[in-house]
Amino acid sequence: MKGIILAGGSGTRLYPLTKVISKQMIPVYDKPMIYYPLSVLMIAGIKEILIISTPHDLPHFQELFGDGSHLGLSIDYAIQEKPEGLAQAFLIGKNFIGTDSVCLILGDNIFFGPGFSKILRESTALDEGGLIFGYLVKDPERYGVVEFDACRNVIGIEEKPTKPKSKYAVPGLYFYDNDVVAIAEQVTPSPRGELEITDVNNEYLRRSKLRVEPLGRGFCWLDTGTHESLQQASSYIQAVQERQGLKVACIEEIAYELGYITLDELANLATDMLKNQYGQYIADIVAEKKMAP
Ligand code: DAU
Repeated sequence: MKGIILAGGSGTRLYPLTKVISKQMIPVYDKPMIYYPLSVLMIAGIKEILIISTPHDLPHFQELFGDGSHLGLSIDYAIQEKPEGLAQAFLIGKNFIGTDSVCLILGDNIFFGPGFSKILRESTALDEGGLIFGYLVKDPERYGVVEFDACRNVIGIEEKPTKPKSKYAVPGLYFYDNDVVAIAEQVTPSPRGELEITDVNNEYLRRSKLRVEPLGRGFCWLDTGTHESLQQASSYIQAVQERQGLKVACIEEIAYELGYITLDELANLATDMLKNQYGQYIADIVAEKKMAP
């Protein structure tokens, strides 16, 4: 399975923060926002990743991650000229996807919760159809919303409905078989001028090939869409990390844990960060592992 991180968009809702830098590059506590979705793809076991962003922002991501080899990954880059919709990712990424299945994650979505690694590994095993998630929120009208019948069967997804038929939003994490490319090619722009991911999901549903898995209570899908929610996301990550002494989305640690890089390579990644707690965290892992029998 291949992975795509969609990290473009205009970011106007966070102006002036995002007037010059990409939303997905701004910090969520101690790391750039895009580290979080990248860590999700890594934990899912996906090694071939395409980052899609604007002509202005793409070079910054290239500078941040290079070809990904220092993390044992292969990272490619592609431009989205204009924010014409999430489903456009499959058209831009057509050659990259080739004949594979694909996971799309939005560059501003943060996931954290018990059992998530297992959910991700199971999702990556998908060989047919589409798999998306449902997450209970108090403001569903801001998202794609799942509609159920009386027997709790999914009968539709609505994009930002003014009168939502449930409180289950669809987070920005999607798994599809290779048909997604052909399906995206058939999608036409919505009234807001975008190729909607919701149309892709509804087409899978029409073919009876869409699974919607609930992400339960206690699971965290954090919003970063407003200044308030961005601040809350940072505070949440800080609180969790300080309580446990473990970092969320430390991509260098994850690369080591997955066996993609050696302990010496991990140590090298920390060398220019040793004066801060992020680098020190990695150095401590290295020291601990070296002490272990
Ligand atoms: O966050 C989950 C929601 O994402 C889903 O529930 C919705 O079904 C889905 O349509 C999308 O909702 P939004 O319309 O709120 O997405 P937004 O325009 O905020 O874009 C999400 C991210 O993707 C954002 O970081 C910008 C980036 N993006 C967006 C578009 C439309 C792109 O990189 N390119 C694009 O063309």
